[in-house]
Amino acid sequence: MTTVLIAGGTGDLGRRVVRELLATTPDTSVRVLTRPGSGTAERLYAGQKRVEIREAAYTDRAGLAAALSGADVVVSAVSGARAVILDTQRALLSAAVEAGVRRFIPSDYSADYRRITPGSNRNFELRRTFAADLDAAPLRVTSVLNGAFADMLTGQAPMILFKRHKVLYWSSPDQSLDFTTKDDVARTVARVALDDAAPRVVEIAGDRVTARDIARIMTELTGTTFTTQWAGTTGILSAAARIGRRLSKDEDETFPAWQGMQYFVSMFSGEAELNHVDNERYGPHDWTTVRDVLEAHLGTLSPRADTATIGRPGS
Ligand SMILES: NC(=O)c1ccc[n+]([C@@H]2O[C@H](COP(=O)([O-])OP(=O)(O)OC[C@H]3O[C@@H](n4cnc5c(N)ncnc54)[C@H](OP(=O)(O)O)[C@@H]3O)[C@@H](O)[C@H]2O)c1
Repeated sequence: MTTVLIAGGTGDLGRRVVRELLATTPDTSVRVLTRPGSGTAERLYAGQKRVEIREAAYTDRAGLAAALSGADVVVSAVSGARAVILDTQRALLSAAVEAGVRRFIPSDYSADYRRITPGSNRNFELRRTFAADLDAAPLRVTSVLNGAFADMLTGQAPMILFKRHKVLYWSSPDQSLDFTTKDDVARTVARVALDDAAPRVVEIAGDRVTARDIARIMTELTGTTFTTQWAGTTGILSAAARIGRRLSKDEDETFPAWQGMQYFVSMFSGEAELNHVDNERYGPHDWTTVRDVLEAHLGTLSPRADTATIGRPGS
């Protein structure tokens, strides 16, 4: 029996990872580490076979180490800015080492943050800083890098202007962009957790498309012509993000608008592009494409809610 402890197992991605872990093999037990007080873990997992809940504050060193004791792997799916990606995860890492855990998967689940220009992306640099801690720790580490969550193309990442039939790009409409759905990321994270031979980084991309590809896909799906729209250079966007950051009141907000801009800077500059994608590592899989995501999204809109005609060309 392999025991996988997941921190942040009550979150959006974490829940999906728990589901995948339980579905992948009956020889896995899952321990959900949650902060005291919310009751979410109880609501989600109480009474579930092969799932146990452990409550501990990340500031309680002894409590954390006790919660991690006996776990083979720690999967972090916590979310936040500096206080979480650095402080919380450092506490988790120390407890993992103290408890003799053999493997650790940090809460990366992002584009490739390793080569980005300093000052260009706060959230990526927090991950890069924590990666240095991980590399100095006496356990095995695997990061999962997956580009942006494809699910965000339907709203959170404002690149497709559905009503104006435009797809925004910065600098080049032909820059390759990596996207993976949350479910496909969760599937991979579960497999990595159970793969003792996993390398330091596993890169996956459910789909790799350009802004021009997205415009074509939208045109094909809606029967209405979508065109690409230059929104500036990545340099201009980077400057706008810097101003947004300076004006923002809360540096600890996880995904402020300026951080979204920084994400696009990293993607459209090519600095965060994945270079060693290995989608086959865990066998054949029907990866969800950007087209799949957009088609499902369009299917949920009423024709009146969007000016685009929904359906395939000619339909
Ligand atoms: N590549 C992308 O495009 C993309 C997009 C979105 C997210 N992500 C990444 O995916 C990962 C998971 O994100 P998510 O959206 O699933 O997260 P989420 O749903 O917001 O939350 C994850 C969990 O983190 C824990 N948490 C929240 N605040 C915390 C704090 N201050 N200290 C300690 N734990 C805290 C909570 O667990 P408890 O309350 O049970 O302790 C929460 O359920 C993060 O690394 C995030 O940055 C990537």
